[in-house]
Amino acid sequence: MTAMARDATTLWVRTPTARYPVWVGAGLLAQSGRRIKSLRPGCRQVFVISSPRVWRLHGTTLAAGLRAAGIRAEALLMNDREQAKRLETVERLAGRLLECGADRGALLVALGGGVVGDVTGFLAASYMRGVEYLQVPTTLVAQVDSAIGGKTGVNLRGGKNLLGAFHHPLAVLADVRTLDTLPEREYRSGLYEVVKCAVLGDASLFRFLERNMAAVLAREPRALRTALGRALGVKARIVGRDEHDRGERRLLNLGHTFGHAFETLSGYRGLRHGEAVAWGMVAATRLAQRLGLLPERDARRILCVVVSVGRLPALPRVRPERVYAQLFADKKKQDRELRFVLPRRIGRAEVVEGVSRGDILASLRNLSNAVSA
Ligand SMILES: NC(=O)c1ccc[n+]([C@@H]2O[C@H](COP(=O)([O-])OP(=O)(O)OC[C@H]3O[C@@H](n4cnc5c(N)ncnc54)[C@H](O)[C@@H]3O)[C@@H](O)[C@H]2O)c1
Ligand SMILES: [Zn+2]
Repeated sequence: MTAMARDATTLWVRTPTARYPVWVGAGLLAQSGRRIKSLRPGCRQVFVISSPRVWRLHGTTLAAGLRAAGIRAEALLMNDREQAKRLETVERLAGRLLECGADRGALLVALGGGVVGDVTGFLAASYMRGVEYLQVPTTLVAQVDSAIGGKTGVNLRGGKNLLGAFHHPLAVLADVRTLDTLPEREYRSGLYEVVKCAVLGDASLFRFLERNMAAVLAREPRALRTALGRALGVKARIVGRDEHDRGERRLLNLGHTFGHAFETLSGYRGLRHGEAVAWGMVAATRLAQRLGLLPERDARRILCVVVSVGRLPALPRVRPERVYAQLFADKKKQDRELRFVLPRRIGRAEVVEGVSRGDILASLRNLSNAVSA
């Protein structure tokens, strides 16, 4: 085994249109150049898209890793607030690429969270009708979710992610060390997406989280490499079977139907996305149990793991009827049936339609009690 192979877990995303490695491990930024060269031996220069903050924290390590393999990095910085995830930002970056002499052979590198990744992916999909890009995710959400799967895009005034393209990266390099600088709340919020993957698709990851949550919360690199590697495996498998989100990929929305409603009702302030998803998983677990789809023991285990991540901020103080109305408002926006992804047992979930209003309202009532000790 080579040194490079020892330091990382390698997963492969295989879809009908793409095949690429996902490297997960500690200290991979320092190997970025060698790893790029293993895929593109002639590479001499890359364009790194990042935010001022992430570049300040991790840019030097990345640039050194690239330089060590004879690759020069040109950094183009963008504001990575959600409000900046707009076409305007893509246009400005494209202008900068042109000024820097980037041609159709250019390789972009997205160094940052999901905002930088989604913008860079869309820029790569459209610049000169498409160039290659590497995802170097630096948040837990980006490492476990947004960096793989090829969904790229920006927001419109009318809604999130409404302008975009499917464009897979050349590779994904997830260095768990970059997570060391994430604020605690940001980190925990991302962890709920790991829990989500376990519940919907990997019972042994779920058991791992039950036994090792303290190590994962302490960001212990080995525990993280295992947890992330397995969670990514769940996503990679599903994306491989349903690249364009027409069926099975919907399972990845576990907790998101309720979660989006909670997110909207909290005005995107009280709850982080992951926290809203956690509440959404709690509601979905209750709903599944109520419909007789999920054994009580499994429901209890799911709630326990959610609680073990930490104390969830309070839900927006609104009545269940208001949440119900919001579920329908979201449905209308996306022009689709009101569907719920519900857990059937640990490691398996299913899309369920035609759930009655009464059952939905009942699962929302006194939701906070479900996670109080
Ligand atoms: N394409 C997809 O499949 C997909 C999936 C899930 C989410 N998303 C998108 O991802 C975005 C959310 O991404 P996110 O949760 O990564 O948040 P983010 O990109 O908004 O980053 C959150 C904050 O963390 C900072 N940050 C990033 N890395 C850091 C680090 N290592 N240390 C310290 N601070 C760091 C950023 O500067 C930012 O302020 C949303 O726009 C969402 O729509 C896309
Ligand atoms: Zn999510």
